Amino acid sequence: MADPAIGETLVARDELQRRIAELGEEISRDYAGRELVLVGVLKGAVLFLADLMRHLDVPCEIDFMAVSSYGSLTDSSGVVRILKDLDAPIKDRDVLIVEDIVDSGLTLHYLMRNLNAREPASLQACALLTKPDRLRTDITPPRYVGFEIANRFAIGYGLDHAQKYRNLDFVAALAE
Ligand code: IMP
Ligand code: MG
Repeated sequence: MADPAIGETLVARDELQRRIAELGEEISRDYAGRELVLVGVLKGAVLFLADLMRHLDVPCEIDFMAVSSYGSLTDSSGVVRILKDLDAPIKDRDVLIVEDIVDSGLTLHYLMRNLNAREPASLQACALLTKPDRLRTDITPPRYVGFEIANRFAIGYGLDHAQKYRNLDFVAALAE
């Protein structure tokens, strides 16, 4: 039975998988000859990270961070609290942050600053989804982006609403 909260499809399963393969090839080219540390941002990036890394042909390790932003449920305040830090140091490593979605960009901005302070050899970000209309003008967008979407609340493929819908294999808008 269809769940009425699952609205219009924003990115279909096939589109997701095709674009993720492309991203994997692009990242593999850019990091050829190097080793990557992929930093997945829990919990939303888990599905994306798992699919993306299957398309990487450079040696890679994975690590995870969990963060929560203070503030209202739908608007990030930019004040970020680390709930789970990396297991291993990243000094002199090539690091790629893997995020599900960049909205205002404040969470990613905080993560970039925090991880940069650990002196990695390089630091970039890859976001499956961005909302260009919402990105703060003073924040640099991620180096790699899967899809730019409209300003809708997205669910599925890792993205949740009240912890649900992460298991959908496509991205949908939350129905009003
Ligand atoms: P930002 O700090 O405003 O960029 O917000 C980033 C975080 O807010 C993401 O990592 C998500 O956890 C959450 N978020 C923002 N937009 C959405 C959405 O449309 N669906 C689900 N989570 C979202
Ligand atoms: Mg997130």
